[in-house]
Amino acid sequence: MAILVTGGAGYIGSHTCIELLQAGYEVVVLDNLCNSSEKSLDRVRQITGKEVTFYKGDILDREILKKLFSEHTITCCIHFAGLKAVGESVQMPLEYYYNNIAGTLVLTDEMRKHNCKNIIFSSSATVYGNPAQIPITEECPKGECTNPYGWTKSMLEQILTDIQKADPEWNVILLRYFNPIGAHKSGLIGENPNGVPNNLMPYITQVAVGKLKELGIFGDDYDTPDGTGVRDYIHVVDLAVGHVKALKKIDEKAGLCIYNLGTGQGYSVLDIVKNFEKANGVKIPYAIKPRRAGDIATCYSNADKAERELGWKAENGILQMCEDSWRWQKNNPNGYEE
Ligand code: NAD
Ligand code: WQD
Repeated sequence: MAILVTGGAGYIGSHTCIELLQAGYEVVVLDNLCNSSEKSLDRVRQITGKEVTFYKGDILDREILKKLFSEHTITCCIHFAGLKAVGESVQMPLEYYYNNIAGTLVLTDEMRKHNCKNIIFSSSATVYGNPAQIPITEECPKGECTNPYGWTKSMLEQILTDIQKADPEWNVILLRYFNPIGAHKSGLIGENPNGVPNNLMPYITQVAVGKLKELGIFGDDYDTPDGTGVRDYIHVVDLAVGHVKALKKIDEKAGLCIYNLGTGQGYSVLDIVKNFEKANGVKIPYAIKPRRAGDIATCYSNADKAERELGWKAENGILQMCEDSWRWQKNNPNGYEE
């Protein structure tokens, strides 16, 4: 009996593999490595002292899925595989819709054929659009997404909901992540973006390590305490633990469940810069730039439902997140490349 982790070589997937292995689960990863390195899985083995089975392949490829399901008894799929760069999705909508949506359709069809009807899906706070209320609860209506990436998440939530409604044997857990940052304490695995990072924390760590000159802060005239955007940053290890808790919920017959995974606390861009400097004793030069298209002022969660129903709560504070992000970057200035 094993858990299938699609996208398991990626940032959140590799951290989740560690928590699963440490909780005693057998883990099978399917990843085409389009945005990751197989070395992350070597590091997972090194950290846990346990084996993880790896299939290099695509969720769109029925043959590899058939092979994988025939070689293992998969009880649940944790589905991370997907393209996730917001800006790129605006340039390449077809590739994003095809990879994320067609990929999930093929995956769930093969799951059904092999009688595996349990899925935990990586959704995102982006499905709330410009949120109708702050803090955001799961009852908050979904909103207009500002990019194709966001729409793939919103549409896939609907598709998985309909699949579960039509066949109640399915258990579907939609996890809406807020802003994952940080890295495993070992400093051996972490976020490894291709090219210039789009997200705040990897940009900051690359400034800190000297690869980038200064941070551009996208707007200081938002309606927030210091004018910069406010987000709910969550430690990736806390997020990973949330998946183990969701698996327990599946065992109890979940039906359809939706949970926010966040800390419930908002920090501005300037708060993050200050906390990073405080945690690590490194100066982050920055310059105020125009707003970035599609950004909203404020986004943070109410994550009480996950605490009530999953017994999950984020444990790590912002200083810990900054410290762990920096340890990974400092020890691996070029990510998984030598
Ligand atoms: P990531 O890019 O590091 O991991 C995704 C993995 O999926 C990569 O290893 C990639 O190679 C693989 N992949 C992509 N398409 C595939 C395909 N067709 N077949 C097989 N493998 C494929 O990203 P991440 O940050 O770890 O995100 C994991 C999931 O969580 C994604 O679905 C993402 O959209 C979602 N999510 C991420 C964030 C975030 O800020 N990081 C926030 C909310 C939701
Ligand atoms: C955070 C804050 C920026 C970079 C994105 C996706 C979302 C989810 C998480 C997947 C904002 C500011 C950033 C920089 C800056 N991903 N910023 N300078 O935009 O909240 O969410 O990642 O689902 O869908 O949209 O995260 O890290 O890009 O930005 O000033 O160089 O930092 O304006 O206020 P975001 P982010």
